[in-house]
Amino acid sequence: MTLENIKLDIDYVRSQFPTFKDPLAKDWLFAENAGGSYVPKNVIQKLNNFMTSTKVQPYAEYPMSKIAGENMDKATKIFADMINAKKNEILIGGSTSINLYVLSNALKHFIKKGDEVIVTNQDHEANISPWRRLSKSGAKIIEWKFNKKNGELEIDDLKKILNKNTKILAVTHCSNIVGSINSLQQICELAHKFNTIVIGDGVSYAPHGFPDVKELGVDFYTFSLYKTYGPHLGLLYGREEILKKLPNQNHEFLDKDYPYNINPGGPNHEELVSLIGINEYFENVYNHHFKNKKLSIREKIMKLNNLISYHEELIANPILEYIDNRDDLVLIGKNKIQNKNRAPTISFFSKKKSSKKISEILVKNKIATRNDNFYAWRCLKALDIDNEDGVVRISLVHYNSLKDTNKIINALKKI
Ligand SMILES: Cc1ncc(COP(=O)(O)O)c(C=O)c1O
Repeated sequence: MTLENIKLDIDYVRSQFPTFKDPLAKDWLFAENAGGSYVPKNVIQKLNNFMTSTKVQPYAEYPMSKIAGENMDKATKIFADMINAKKNEILIGGSTSINLYVLSNALKHFIKKGDEVIVTNQDHEANISPWRRLSKSGAKIIEWKFNKKNGELEIDDLKKILNKNTKILAVTHCSNIVGSINSLQQICELAHKFNTIVIGDGVSYAPHGFPDVKELGVDFYTFSLYKTYGPHLGLLYGREEILKKLPNQNHEFLDKDYPYNINPGGPNHEELVSLIGINEYFENVYNHHFKNKKLSIREKIMKLNNLISYHEELIANPILEYIDNRDDLVLIGKNKIQNKNRAPTISFFSKKKSSKKISEILVKNKIATRNDNFYAWRCLKALDIDNEDGVVRISLVHYNSLKDTNKIINALKKI
C-alpha cells in the first residue's frame, strides 16, 4: 500500500478532539502545536476516571489502589512499546527540561578533566544548558554550529569535532525553529565509533510520528508528552546498559532501582495513566483506516506515521511554498517537505514588519500562533534575529486541515 492510497480522514481525526467543539476554542485555527497540542477525548476520559475512581496511593491491595498501580504500569508499558523500548528503559518525569537536568547530574559523575562534550546551536536550550554545565566538572564544551546559509547541522562539521575525548553529544532530532530532521541514525553511528553517549531531543519530532529508539541507535532520547496529545509530562528513554550504571539521583534505598533512580519524585500518577488514552486514540485512528488488526503496537504506529506524514506534507507544503515565494518574508529551513525531511514547523520573519506585528495580524484573523525565540535563542542569535521579537512560528500537526492551510495563506496575503 503506498502512502497515497489511504488518506487521513481529517473529519474523523478532528471529531476525537473535544477542543474543536469547545465554545472558547472552536472558532480558532490552532497553529501553535509545537508549543503544546490539543488532547483527544480518550486522554480526558482516562484522567477523569483516575481522579474519580482511583485517586489514592497506588500499589496497595484494595481495589482502587491496585487498579491505579496496574494502570500506571500499563501506561508505561504501552509507551515503551510505542517507541520500541523496554519497560525499564523509559521514565515519565515532569518535563523534558527536568529529565535532561537530572540526567546531566547523573552523567556528570563520569566526566573528568579533558573530556569533551558536544552541544549544538540549533537545539532548544533544554538540551544545551544541562550539558554546558558539565564544564564545571572539567569538560571542554564544543559547539557543533549549524550552517547559517541553510540552517542545517552538517555531518561533515560533526566529523571534524568528534574524537576519542568526546564523552557526550547532545543533539536535536528536529529543530523547533528550522524544522529540519537530523539523521540521528547517522549521527549515532559516527559518535559510537568513539564511545560517545548520544542524547537526542525528540520534542519537535515525536508529535509527527513516534520514533523507534533502537533503530535510531540513541543512548538517551526525550520528548514532551504535552506535545504528543497528552498531559504536561516528559518521557526519557535510556539504553539499559547505561541506565544500569548511572548513579542514584533518588532516595538512598532506590540505589539500584533503575530507571526510578533518575526520576526523583516519581511520575505524576493521574497524568501517567491518562497516557493510555493517547494510545487508545491512535488505535482508533488505526482501526478507522486499516483492516489488519493483528499487528503489534509498534507496527500500527509505523503505519500511522506514514499516514500522518503524507497528510502533513499535503497541508504544510503550500504554506512553505507561499512564504518562500514572498520577497518580504524570510523562511527558515527547507522550503518543501519531502520524504520526511522536515516537520510542518514553519518559522519565518519579515524584512518590513516585526514578528510581533505579524503575529498580531494572524491572531486578529483567529489564527492561534505567536512570535518568540521559543527557547532556541542560540539558533536565533546565530541567524542574527532579534531574540526579543523572534520569529513567527506556524506549527501544524495531523489534526490541522487543508482548510487551515488556505486560511493561513489568505491571512498571510493581508500582510
Ligand atoms: C525542541 C524542544 N526541546 C525541548 C523542549 C523543552 O520541553 P519541556 O517543556 O518539556 O521542558 C521544548 C519545549 O518547547 C522543545 O520545543
